[in-house]
Amino acid sequence: EKAGFDHFMLKEIHEQPKAYRDTMGARIDAAGKKVVLNEIGMTPEQIRSIRQVHIVACGTAYHAGLVGKTVIEKLTRIPVETDVASEYRYRSPIITPETLVVVVSQSGETADTLAALREAKRNGARVVAITNVVGSSVAREADDVIVTWAGPEIAVASTKAYTSQLIAFYLFGLYLAQSLGTQDSSYISEVVAALQELPNKVEAILAQADTIKNAAEQISTHNNLFFIGRGLDYAVALEGSLKLKEISYIHSEAYAAGELKHGTLALIEEGIPVIALATQEDLFEKTVSNIKEVKARGAHVFGLNAEGETELVKVVDEVLTIPATLPLLMPALSVVPLQLLSYYASLARGNDVDKPRNLAKSVTVE
Ligand code: M6R
Repeated sequence: EKAGFDHFMLKEIHEQPKAYRDTMGARIDAAGKKVVLNEIGMTPEQIRSIRQVHIVACGTAYHAGLVGKTVIEKLTRIPVETDVASEYRYRSPIITPETLVVVVSQSGETADTLAALREAKRNGARVVAITNVVGSSVAREADDVIVTWAGPEIAVASTKAYTSQLIAFYLFGLYLAQSLGTQDSSYISEVVAALQELPNKVEAILAQADTIKNAAEQISTHNNLFFIGRGLDYAVALEGSLKLKEISYIHSEAYAAGELKHGTLALIEEGIPVIALATQEDLFEKTVSNIKEVKARGAHVFGLNAEGETELVKVVDEVLTIPATLPLLMPALSVVPLQLLSYYASLARGNDVDKPRNLAKSVTVE
């Protein structure tokens, strides 16, 4: 059942190219120029009436929602807020019939996410669900459902469900932009083409597993480390950090790189590993100056950049290069080495990778 892999998590990491292809599937038109989302029942008038979007989810799905915020705001210029469901449901969020609420849940059964969905509906909002389980509670109660075709995810640590959620957000963001006319068709087809190239690029990252294993073995002897990044790199840093904590039990924190000097820099000491994501062209120089700040205090920096970028190697201790794509799509690539990093770190520590202590796959009680 593990198809020759040692763990479900590793199998599921390797299933990502297929999960991307299946999730895009028939949702891209035959000419490869635009997105077709027949599962969205909103009329063009209803889409035009959206004044704000709330994305609500827990854990890894919340991290997908942070990427979703940037994607939807960039493509549509509609303001988006992303919130964790256990906060959202109790803070009297301002929901009106002009609010579109997007709930994200692999299982579709997470208690807080379901409660947030109900709160949204009570207030007259339309709810779109992004879920991996057809017929789940969330799927049944939402108005529109975008299924992520990742297939069953067994490992507690979510991998292919997260990346399929990213694909769902790209498709949904493009779909909204097409309806609203906020992006021209040439840009839309450029993003669509880049999306279709992602599965092969993920394969190329998976082929570099040995380099990542080496980095994982180095960090596995530490008890503390940091992930830093800006913009979408920060959203991915949060996910990389959660994954690492969840299965390796190494304490880590993800920091927006520009926030370091507002306090956390005090924790940087000789030898501490810092994983620095620098895949966003427009923020690159800024991230490099933050890397120099931690280097100056003795950190051992592992940098992550995209092919074609030549400066990072000069400022970090070790560099991992992934294929290039549009900056907006980078999370769908940059998270993959971080998944492998946590997998191999967990393995090096002799942990139960697929069933980490204290955690359940589906959190159906609050
Ligand atoms: O089934 P859901 O997507 O609603 O689950 C949400 C979280 O419980 C889940 O993503 C959790 O954070 C994962 N174990 C992380 O790997």
